[in-house]
Amino acid sequence: MSDRGAPGEAGRGAAGSRRSRSGADALRQTLFGVEFQSPVLLASGTCGYGREYDGLIPLDELGGLVTKAVSVEPRAGNPPHRIAETPAGMINAIGLHNVGLDRFISEKLPWLRDHLGRARVFVNVVGRTVDDYAEVVCRLDGEEGFLGYEINVSCPNVKGGTMFGTDEAALAELVGRLRGVTDRPIVVKLTPNVPDIGVFARLCEEEGADGLSTINTFPGMLIDVDRRRPVIGNVSGGVSGPAILPMGVYLTWRAARASSLPIMGIGGIRTARDALQYILAGASLVQVGTALFVDPASAEGVHRGLADYLERHAIPELSELVGALELPAPPAHGEEAAG
Ligand SMILES: Cc1cc2nc3c(=O)[nH]c(=O)nc-3n(C[C@H](O)[C@H](O)[C@H](O)COP(=O)(O)O)c2cc1C
Repeated sequence: MSDRGAPGEAGRGAAGSRRSRSGADALRQTLFGVEFQSPVLLASGTCGYGREYDGLIPLDELGGLVTKAVSVEPRAGNPPHRIAETPAGMINAIGLHNVGLDRFISEKLPWLRDHLGRARVFVNVVGRTVDDYAEVVCRLDGEEGFLGYEINVSCPNVKGGTMFGTDEAALAELVGRLRGVTDRPIVVKLTPNVPDIGVFARLCEEEGADGLSTINTFPGMLIDVDRRRPVIGNVSGGVSGPAILPMGVYLTWRAARASSLPIMGIGGIRTARDALQYILAGASLVQVGTALFVDPASAEGVHRGLADYLERHAIPELSELVGALELPAPPAHGEEAAG
C-alpha cells in the first residue's frame, strides 16, 4: 500500500497551470485504508496520551497523534534527570515510563475515543519479548478509539530497547507474529542505529507490516564537567530535535527506496519546509515531536505552511510530492554521504 509518486513527478509544470483544491483539501490523503485530513501527527512520547494537549491545540484538526509507549506492565521509567537541552534539541532518557496496558485501556483510551473523531490515533507499543508485544496488541485489538499500532523497536533509553530494531531475525519474528494477531495497521518505528535501514524496511514489508516510522532518537550523552558526571541519570539518552533533521531525512529516503510501504517521517521537524524535506524523501505523513516542547502550536504551523505551499505552487494533491525528490544525474553523486 503506497501513495508514493514516482520520483520526479512533483509539481512539474505545476505553477499556475493547474487548478488547485484549497491547500488544506490538498493535504488529505488516504492511507492505511482511511483518510488523513492532514499529514501532520504528534510523535510518541511528546504528546502524552493526547489529553495533555486538550485546550492547548486543536488536536482533532491534526492528522493524528501517536500515544506514549504502552507496555503490558506499568513502568516507572529511569531515574532523574530524564531530559536536558542540547545545542540543537534535547536528550531524553524517560525509560518508557507509562501507565501500563490496564490503565491505558480504562483511563486513556476512552478520552481518545470520545474526543478525537477525525484525528487518527496510533498506539505506540513496546515490550521486552515477542509475547509482550503480542499481548498488548491482542488485548487492545477489540477496543475502540484508535486506528492502529506503531511498534516501537527502537528506544535507545532502556536495556534491550533497540534489540528488535537491530536484529533482523528478531524483527522478522516480531512483525510476523503481530501480523498474525491483528488486521489493524501495523507501523514499525525503525531505529537509526543500524548500518543499512533499508534492510530493516524491506524486512518489515516482507513480514506484512503496513507502514514505517523513520526515525527514533539517536543515542547520545552529555557530561557535567564540574561534577564529572553524566547529566542524564541513565548516563545516556536519545537525542532529538533540529540536530537530527538531516539524518532523519536521509534515513527516510533510504527506507523509501528500499520498500514501498507508506512512511511517517520523524526527526527535528519544526516547520513546513522541514516536513517537505521528509515528504520529498518519501514520507507520506510526518510527526512533530521535540518542537512541541518549544511551541505547542508548531504542528498546526507545519500543517498551515504545507497548505500554503501547495496553494502557492498550485499542487492539487500532497501525494504528488511524496518521494518526488529529483536527483542529479549519476555518476556525479552516489547514494552514500560524502566524507
Ligand atoms: C521526551 C521524549 C519521549 C519519547 N518517548 C517515545 C516513546 O515512548 N516511544 C517512541 O517510539 N518514541 C519516543 N520518542 C521519540 C519521538 O517519538 C521521536 O521519534 C524523536 O523524538 C524524533 O523526533 P523529534 O526530533 O521531532 O522529537 C520520545 C521522544 C522524546 C523527546
